[in-house]
Formats: sequence, C-alpha cells, structure tokens
Amino acid sequence: MVKKIDPCTLVLFGASGNLSRVKLMPGLFRLDAAGRLPEHMAILSVGRSEVSRDDWLADIKGMLDAKFKNGYDQKVFERFIARNHYFANASDDPDAYKKMSATLGDAKIFPQNFAYFLSVRPTDFAPVVEQLSEVGLLNESQYWRRVLIEKPFGTNLPSAQDLQARLTKHLKESQIYRIDHYLGKSAVQGIMLTRFANAIFEPLWNKEHIDHVQITNNETLGVGERTTFYDATGALRDMMQSHLLQTLALTAMEKPADLKPESIRAEKVKLLQSIRPVDVSNINKQAFRAQYKAGRVCAADGHGENVQGYLEELKRDGVDSSITETYAAVKLFIDNPRWQGVPFYVRTAKRMHEGNTAISIRFKKSPMQLVEGQHQNWLTINIQPRECIKLEIESKIPGLDIATRTLSIDAPQRQKEDETIDSYETLMLNLMEGDPSQYLHISEVEAQWRLVDPIVKAWAADKTPLHQYTAGNRDPEESSVIFETKDQFWRYSIELGGDKH
Ligand SMILES: NC(=O)c1ccc[n+]([C@@H]2O[C@H](COP(=O)([O-])OP(=O)(O)OC[C@H]3O[C@@H](n4cnc5c(N)ncnc54)[C@H](OP(=O)(O)O)[C@@H]3O)[C@@H](O)[C@H]2O)c1
Repeated sequence: MVKKIDPCTLVLFGASGNLSRVKLMPGLFRLDAAGRLPEHMAILSVGRSEVSRDDWLADIKGMLDAKFKNGYDQKVFERFIARNHYFANASDDPDAYKKMSATLGDAKIFPQNFAYFLSVRPTDFAPVVEQLSEVGLLNESQYWRRVLIEKPFGTNLPSAQDLQARLTKHLKESQIYRIDHYLGKSAVQGIMLTRFANAIFEPLWNKEHIDHVQITNNETLGVGERTTFYDATGALRDMMQSHLLQTLALTAMEKPADLKPESIRAEKVKLLQSIRPVDVSNINKQAFRAQYKAGRVCAADGHGENVQGYLEELKRDGVDSSITETYAAVKLFIDNPRWQGVPFYVRTAKRMHEGNTAISIRFKKSPMQLVEGQHQNWLTINIQPRECIKLEIESKIPGLDIATRTLSIDAPQRQKEDETIDSYETLMLNLMEGDPSQYLHISEVEAQWRLVDPIVKAWAADKTPLHQYTAGNRDPEESSVIFETKDQFWRYSIELGGDKH
C-alpha cells in the first residue's frame, strides 16, 4: 500500500559526508525514480563548507554516476536535480542557523513540513537540535517537524539517557526517529511476517519445541581504516547492542495486536525488557570474546588474500595494545512463559571464513529416535547475503535399509523480478510518511544498553590477553564454553554439511 506523503523538505545535515554520498543521495534519487517522492518535495543539503548551488548539483551528479554505473533516466535526473539546494552551515558563523531559518522560510521553494536527517558525528546530534530549536525550526504549531538521529544513540546507558534528555527539551518523542538501518532491511522486516502470516510456525515457536536459537552476523571484512572508531567501540557495541538485539526481539516477541507502529514497538520493548541480565560474576560461561590474528580470507573476487591481524592493524596506526573484541558471543535467556530456559546465542565477528547474517533455530530431538544419528531439525531465516528460509528435515534414504539423511527445503525469499531496495531508502520514506515503526523507541535503546553495558564493563576490567582466532577461520574452539549442552555447536553455513553434522 502506497502511503500519502505531505509536501515536505528533507534537510540533510552532513550531506557531503560518506553516508550521504554512498547511500542517502543515491537512495533519494531511486525513490524519485520509483515515483515515491511527492511532487512538492525539496532537499536542502547542509554542509559546513561554502559551495555554490551549481557546484553542489555537479557534485550530486558525480555521486549518482559513481553509484549507477549503468546510467539513469535523464528525465528523472532533471526532476531530482531541480529539488536540490545547498546551505553552508559554517561552524564559525554565530548566525548560521538564523540564516538557515531564513532560507527555509521561502515556502515557494521549501514546503514547510521539515524532516531533518542528522548524518553528522554523534557528538553533533544534540548541538544541532538545540540550535534548530533556538531559531524556531522545530516548532510544530503549523507543520510537522521530524528529526532522524543516526546511529549510535549513546555509547552506554548514561550517555544515551543524557542525549535523550537534551533532545526532549526541544522535541516530543513522536518527533524523534532513531535509526537502526537493519530495521530497514526487507528480510529483517520479513521475520515478523514469516512468523505470524504462517499458521505452521506459531505452535512450534516456544520452549516446548525449540532447543536453542542462534542469531549471527559474521563478516569476512576486517576493521580496515576504521581502527580508531572500532577500537573504542568493539563488536559488542557496534553490532550486538542494536542490530542483533533488534533481530532477537523480532524473532522472539509476542504477536502485536495489529501492525500499528506503537503496537509493534510495544511488543519489542516487552521482549527486550524480559531478557535476563547477564550474570557478570559468571561471565566466562555466558559471554566470549576474541580478536582475529593474521590469516587468509576469501576476497571479493573469490581468491584468497593474506591479511593482517587486528593488533597489527592497530600498530600500523600507532596503537600498541588493545583488548577490544572483534568476535563477541553472548548467551541470553528470556524470562517469559514462551521462552523460559531456551538459550539464545548471539554472535558477531569480523574476518570470519564467510559473511552471513542469519537466525538459526534448532528444534528439540524428535520424541522418537528411529535410527542412530538422527539429526535435529533446523529452521534458518537467512538475511544476507542470500534472503531465504531453509528447513532441514530427516528423510528415509531409499533402499533396503532403514536409514535417514537430512534434506534441506530451500525457499528463496527474493525472486528474480523483485526490487532491491536499500534499507536507507525504506527508512527515508518512512520518515517522510511519519511512520516510526522501523525506528527505535527510547525504551528499546535503553533496554539494549542495560543488557550490553555490564558485559562491556566486565570485559574492560579483565585485562587478560584475548583469545586469538585466525582470520578466515570459523569460530574459535574456546567459544563453545557458552553452550548449555555438549551437543550444541555453532551453525556455520546455511548449506547442508556446512556445519558440524
Ligand atoms: N558511513 C556509514 O556507512 C554509516 C553507517 C552507520 C552509521 N553512520 C552514522 O552516520 C553519521 C554520518 O556518518 P558519515 O560516515 O557520513 O560521517 P562523515 O563522513 O564524517 O560525515 C559527516 C559530515 O557531517 C558534516 N557536519 C558536521 N557537523 C555539521 C553541521 N553542524 N552542519 C552540517 N554538516 C555538518 C561534516 O562536515 P565537515 O567535514 O565539514 O566536518 C561531514 O561532512 C554518523 O553519525 C555515523 O555514526 C554512518
């Protein structure tokens, strides 16, 4: 269903930054090409350097040329370019925001509903909001005013609450759109639909039938040039605090009363708040961390590539030692009647043998063990790189003897003719539509930090050198310490035989 969007202006702070160049500007162009931007819609790019409109439009053309190598429709391009304007928000000009207000005040060019996308450094989120407020640009007395806050929302619970307190001096909760771009992914949105639109899953989706759940995000990439950011952040805060806990919430939450944003978010909040805090006095049985050392990974062109270890990469950038994890695995329990006692293993790592994001659910042993070595069923919802649902079942091997083997029923969710939509496109559209269901409520952000903070603290206090795993390999053997039972193991590839069967 196509929702109506009011005439509006998207004010893009940080328009000359990396995210804007690679994702946001091309994403807006694609929305325009798909006919999803309202006729009366303008884009005001805000950067800190002085750039003329003509130069900015030429810069946008460069961004589109770089993204759409096969070219694009000239008519759409002209329409898109006509929507675009630039404002230089010089940091040394005390009147910059007054000037921005005057610019935006021209209603002939800029429709007066404003959506601000803050694609700036996290330390700039609150100052930008405060200055917009000071010049009246957040006032909703006549038109709506929404603010999208990029990730991360704080670096721990106190800083998230501090940011929230600064924002809510000027904004109502309904005006704040906290992004987790995972929630814009079609396959992540599909988790809820798969669960609730199919009558076969719900009766099995509980502690009676499920042995455990694994939520995985593995990458073959290393830290690259982002050593300073990464070393201050680590795998737990970078990936688990938001993306993976959100994936867990969608996997485990109760059915919302309806598809209204507030109903979905209420169920996610309830679920996140019912996750039992990790017992830090016993952390070594509940969480495992490690760092990659030099090894060989499969490069994008399919060939092997020798790569440095994390500590070597840091040394290159002048840092001598680090206990920041590039591999994090945590065992979580949900204290509610549906999930009591079922472990949820959440893991994320860089420089693994394979890049993959998936939810893998292992069912309990069948009540009848007919043949030796009978495997348990697995259901995998694969999010990337291939969007698919796989169900592994046991089946008789045709022949004289009674023996079974595992078959995999593979349902690709993406078919040839399906559109590929970047998560930022969905999220920018939702922002303009006023639909916050794929954005985070502050209660979700707080619940996520409450879970992650104690682990971060415990790990920071433990100065013992980290386990090292070879880049390009599978999970370090030692990580199995967090499994509840001896027969549990990390699920690797989604392909049959790709695990430890
Ligand atoms: N890049 C990604 O893929 C990605 C992914 C997830 C989240 N994020 C988040 O998205 C945000 C932007 O990331 P990025 O990689 O694009 O950062 P970036 O390349 O550093 O870009 C930030 C841009 O914001 C500009 N800026 C700073 N303060 C401003 C202000 N008051 N008014 C107007 N422009 C201002 C900067 O201009 P100057 O250069 O003049 O300072 C810079 O061009 C960050 O919060 C980041 O955490 C990015």
